[in-house]
Amino acid sequence: MSAKIIDGAQLAMDIRRDLSRRVESLEAASGVTPGLAVVLVGDDPASRVYVANKTRACKAVGIRSVLHRLDADVEQDSIIAIIKALNEDPSVHGILVQLPLPPWIQSRPVLEAISVEKDVDGFHLYNVGGLVLGDAIFSPCTPYGVVKLLESVGISVDGQNVVIVGASNIVGKPMAHMLMTRDATVAICHAKTRDLAQFTILADILVVAAGVPNLILPQMVKTGAVVIDVGINRMADGRLVGDVDFEALVKKASYITPVPGGVGPMTVTMLLENTYLSALRSQGALVNRAGNAASGDEAFYASGR
Ligand code: GUN
Repeated sequence: MSAKIIDGAQLAMDIRRDLSRRVESLEAASGVTPGLAVVLVGDDPASRVYVANKTRACKAVGIRSVLHRLDADVEQDSIIAIIKALNEDPSVHGILVQLPLPPWIQSRPVLEAISVEKDVDGFHLYNVGGLVLGDAIFSPCTPYGVVKLLESVGISVDGQNVVIVGASNIVGKPMAHMLMTRDATVAICHAKTRDLAQFTILADILVVAAGVPNLILPQMVKTGAVVIDVGINRMADGRLVGDVDFEALVKKASYITPVPGGVGPMTVTMLLENTYLSALRSQGALVNRAGNAASGDEAFYASGR
């Protein structure tokens, strides 16, 4: 068997092209340009790269982005004060605090300061709770991107055994809720799971977000499984690899995402989508909890606002 490669780079490009058009239409109809404020604390090199990618992607689709770079020794209260000002700024529709924050800053009060309506990362407790109930305002970008990737190749998770490796707040936990909402049977494994293979072998769909290169070997995966690799690991020789043994699994899986070019480009794309939807909502458009305009964006334009 040779797996079909799920091309996240292509899907991201298609969605972004469509998004540019929708951003233009929104501007023409209402004069509103979607705006994203990004807060970056300290100078973690990986975070700087991620933030640069996000601001570049905003520009490419016509979303205005403003970067607030703060020194690592900034007071927690100062970060919260900046977020509160952004909450009040009508030109800002999305606020993103890049994680991780320096260890001496508590991330929870910082994330909770973000207005729920502008929480395009979906990390606020209210949105986390909404995800559990199946009606979050914003879905976290990486798992949202995985859902879109599966949909793009017509894979339904309904009734499927999904095994998620990695139980982070950013990927594994929200992923589990989003898939449960779609009627998958979900198991989450993590660093303390004993005998990982006894779980992964059962997966019809395996989502791996552990940050460990070559964690998933072919003997741990059922023939014909769908393999979604969320890992991004920089090797000593400079190569980027995921968490699965891609060369071996491409011969055993039915579908697989590559690294790079799989989940990564979708994460940023879903951030753009959430920011656009937030701007749309700020204009009174009905946007449902799954993140789509109520009856297409047309509902908004038809309303004449
Ligand atoms: N750090 C790693 N991934 C993310 C993400 O999706 N959002 C934010 N804010 N920080 C991150």
